[in-house]
Amino acid sequence: MTLTKISYTRPSITELEVSYATEAVRTGWGPKCYDYIYRFEGAFREFTSTQYAAATSSCTGALHLGLAALGIGAGDEVIIADVNWIASVAPVVHLGATPVFVDILPDTWCLDPARVEAAITPRTKAVIAVHLYGNVCDLDRLADICRRHNLILIEDAAEAIGSQWRGKQVGSVGRFATFSFHGTKTVTTGEGGMLVTNDQALHSMVQALNNHGRLPGQNKQFFPEVVGYKYRLSNVQAAIGCAQMERRAELIAGKRRVFQFYAEALKGLRHIALNPEPPGTVNGYWMPSAVFSKESGVTQEQMLKAFVAAGIDARVFFCPLSSLPMFKAKPENRVSYDLPMRAINLPSYSEMTEADQLRVVGVLKQLHP
Ligand SMILES: Cc1ncc(COP(=O)(O)O)c(C=O)c1O
Repeated sequence: MTLTKISYTRPSITELEVSYATEAVRTGWGPKCYDYIYRFEGAFREFTSTQYAAATSSCTGALHLGLAALGIGAGDEVIIADVNWIASVAPVVHLGATPVFVDILPDTWCLDPARVEAAITPRTKAVIAVHLYGNVCDLDRLADICRRHNLILIEDAAEAIGSQWRGKQVGSVGRFATFSFHGTKTVTTGEGGMLVTNDQALHSMVQALNNHGRLPGQNKQFFPEVVGYKYRLSNVQAAIGCAQMERRAELIAGKRRVFQFYAEALKGLRHIALNPEPPGTVNGYWMPSAVFSKESGVTQEQMLKAFVAAGIDARVFFCPLSSLPMFKAKPENRVSYDLPMRAINLPSYSEMTEADQLRVVGVLKQLHP
């Protein structure tokens, strides 16, 4: 018997998304061409308890706009965790600033605040706190460090829909925060992003830069005053986003259900740690992941081989960005250079069956010493 392949993620699309997208295609033109965009932004303001939201064509674009609007550029340093996806750092590089990669904590897999503080120099301008795989960064300590050193805290919440800090969706602590609606994300528009902030001036600058540099108050047609960008989300994509936002509780609950099933099934296996949920936080569990202990001796190669053999589409953990060819290696980031090599992302999507989850659990148990 051949088993069907288990993909690592899958969007949840219902008649609601289809009906909104259809309506946008039929009627969302001319004077109505921004209606779903405004509605999607409104839903996001409410969801994140922030005052301003700007929909974008990707989270990468949202980060680029936000950093540019803050004036970050050549000569500036931006601190970021070494273990990350390249999207969080590419805009820093595009703007001519220097990323400074610091180590992660072994339990949260996110920025180590003590390492952040040690990496600050007179050129440091900002800290990007990425809530990796839905795990919440230590925002209290990071916000305190940024306050004391007069640095800008930015939250990259691309992977953190449904993750909460002190009872609130993450994304309202930093000067701005960004989200991703890529097809793999908990709330999706295929491709898409959002920037949220409580800073009105920053929001105006983001909107102006996202409109090819046409500044607010400028009434002359086709008269940009700075060279800007064009990272706009389309109305049709926003229509899908509106439907997903109406269903967000169900989508987040689906992710959490999948995680809880893994956690229960793997309980007692002392060599496996899953995503943490420290007191005061809720984890949206975008990407449930298993980290084997050092003592287990389990390697990434063994994990991939076992998952492939079982017809399961497992993903490797992000490698340290500083190990990529365009950056300078920082093996002194000891956790970043070790933990990903014994970790693996597990398949999860809201409609995943328990039978499929048991197949994943079976592989992990088989690998466990
Ligand atoms: C942490 C993080 N930041 C930024 C991004 C970029 O998102 P997008 O693909 O919407 O540009 C991703 C994408 O997965 C991500 O994981």
